[in-house]
Amino acid sequence: MSAKVAKQKATAKKGSGKPVKKSAPVKKKSAAKGQMYASLVAQLRSLLKGEYDFTANAANFSALVYHTLPDVNWAGFYLLHEDVLVLGPFQGRPACVRIPNGKGVCGFAVQQGETVIVPNVHEFPGHIACDSASNSEIVIPLFDGERVFGVFDVDSPTLKRFDDQDAEGLNELVTVLVAHEEGLDE
Ligand code: SME
Repeated sequence: MSAKVAKQKATAKKGSGKPVKKSAPVKKKSAAKGQMYASLVAQLRSLLKGEYDFTANAANFSALVYHTLPDVNWAGFYLLHEDVLVLGPFQGRPACVRIPNGKGVCGFAVQQGETVIVPNVHEFPGHIACDSASNSEIVIPLFDGERVFGVFDVDSPTLKRFDDQDAEGLNELVTVLVAHEEGLDE
């Protein structure tokens, strides 16, 4: 998959007529990172086994990612209530509770319906700074069929922390979580 990389001049919203850069420059995959995500998927499946409470599973999901991925300072969910993203289970410092429609990196990911990688949050117009330590970010939309119902957001204090391999790995994890909630992994 190819995640959307949002740069300062590449953050135009759909329909604005401005170009949106489609993907990061091709970078060689790291075997270690691939193994880390494969291990995370296995651990997640084990944590989910027999439990169908979304809040509980999303809380353990956040903890698993936060405590396994190196160099991250926040990992958690925002869930759509009407058209506002409301803070869900997370790990890290307390964060903004409500993100209005289309605002911030999270709102942008919902609008685009695609994973968004922000190499430098200070160059993303409208970035919402919950933790001043954050310098880069990745946001993965959660889909119920065609409909986006929330996002999973990970922040890092390091610039350019996230790449396409993180996008791929985190998308796989999110897909396992959502499929489990929908009973599609039986
Ligand atoms: N930075 C996000 C807000 C959420 S915090 O990072 C936890 C955004 O711009 O949408």
